[in-house]
Amino acid sequence: MGGLLLTHGTVANEIKVEHPPYPERGLKRLVKVERLPKTEFAVIEQGGQIWDQNCKICHGTGNFGAPKITGSKFWGPRIEQGLTVLVEHAQNGFLSPSGGNMPARGGNDELTDQEVEAAVRFMVYHSGGQDIAIQDLK
Ligand code: HEC
Repeated sequence: MGGLLLTHGTVANEIKVEHPPYPERGLKRLVKVERLPKTEFAVIEQGGQIWDQNCKICHGTGNFGAPKITGSKFWGPRIEQGLTVLVEHAQNGFLSPSGGNMPARGGNDELTDQEVEAAVRFMVYHSGGQDIAIQDLK
């Protein structure tokens, strides 16, 4: 990392990513939206569509060391930070001290704040944080 000292939560706005290829071992490892249980929450369902197109490539596979959804083991400590922090990290990007790189908006500048938030709620919902995922939803 070229001597740059990165602290937890450093904003990674500038980073552009090329989407990595799906892992070679095929799609078995891939989390698919349509296999997850449907919810009664429109925002969570909307988030699933956004996630499918923008986030699954990493968070459905574990590509780049991204925490795979449905893995509550990986998500427990992250969810403990609270929804506001997770949404902020997803919108602005996030570099972890261990070198993990979450690109701002998953690398898609066209996503609105609301869309990114919906995708985060969807991820949290299906990774063991249902109560937190639906907080402040009507
Ligand atoms: C190019 C791969 C990649 C894409 C695409 C991607 N992420 Fe990530 N994301 C990561 C990685 C890697 C981490 C883990 C960073 C770390 O903590 O080491 C991460 C972490 C996160 C976290 C947890 C942050 C925290 O504080 O623990 C959230 C929330 C998140 N991503 C949301 C999203 C959303 C929403 C999308 C789609 C709009 C998305 N990500 C797309 C790679 C990606």
